[in-house]
Amino acid sequence: MKFEDGVWPEYDEQLEKLEIRLLLEAVFNRYGHDFRNYSYPSMRRRIWHRATMEQLGTISMLQHLVLHDRDAFERLLGDLVIPVTELFRDPGMFRFFRGKVAPELAKLPFVRIWHAGCASGEEAYSSAIVMDEKGLLDHSRIYATDISRQALQRAREGVVPPDRMEAYERNYEDSGGAQSIAAYYGEAGGVFRLKPSIADRIVFAEHNLVTDRSFNEFHVIFCRNVMIYFNSDLRDRVHALLYESLADGGFLILGGKESVAFTRLAGRYEIWSDEHRVYRKVR
Ligand SMILES: C[S@@+](CC[C@H](N)C(=O)[O-])C[C@H]1O[C@@H](n2cnc3c(N)ncnc32)[C@H](O)[C@@H]1O
Repeated sequence: MKFEDGVWPEYDEQLEKLEIRLLLEAVFNRYGHDFRNYSYPSMRRRIWHRATMEQLGTISMLQHLVLHDRDAFERLLGDLVIPVTELFRDPGMFRFFRGKVAPELAKLPFVRIWHAGCASGEEAYSSAIVMDEKGLLDHSRIYATDISRQALQRAREGVVPPDRMEAYERNYEDSGGAQSIAAYYGEAGGVFRLKPSIADRIVFAEHNLVTDRSFNEFHVIFCRNVMIYFNSDLRDRVHALLYESLADGGFLILGGKESVAFTRLAGRYEIWSDEHRVYRKVR
């Protein structure tokens, strides 16, 4: 079988499944990243993309390469995680968070928020801005975690690309922001970054939802657009981890296409907003 002009070779479906299973097993054994229960169609597409980019004609050849070459593994990892995000993504959800969740958090002496699967951090910066505007940031700690070191590095830098500023301004306004989001940027040498008054309240760290345990008890957990890439078994396991990590009365906030319905824990949450995927752990 041969790679030709970006055209994938004809593949026997069973053989392809076997090779993908072996590749993901190899990645887990060698590097500790466990993608074995991620959604198959999405894995298949991304693995073939990487094989094509490396000009390899079979997934077994990709397996050989990533086992022997850490840089090649990092490139594959870059394809398997999808660190797409933005400031105030889904502004309606942040409007709801601002108007309905924050007043509940104001009743607590100290607030711990966890962004699980934070990518390059924009979601955590957004919640920090809302907490600041609600006068709650000084007694909050925001933890933001991901498996991608590259994404976390970008998150810590907190750089705002000029070509995103207009869209971020609109998102922020739509989320109920009262001033200009530019008030939260500082500029040095032509580079715009989120201000330290916001950034310093956020702890960025590596954490794998599949292989790591709970590390604290939180009043809010954002886990948005992460579990869409998992199969239903893995989704159930991660839901159990999130549930365990929530304080009684804590809020779970999922992505627009995600829900606690159809999980084993559905009955343990009150639906606070079906539209914005906000659930509250029953006390
Ligand atoms: C599409 S981004 C979502 C970012 C943000 N939550 C949002 O909705 O804008 C998905 C992120 O989940 C992370 N991710 C995937 N599998 C993970 C795992 N097992 N543990 C932690 N993070 C994971 C990816 O690295 C990626 O950064």
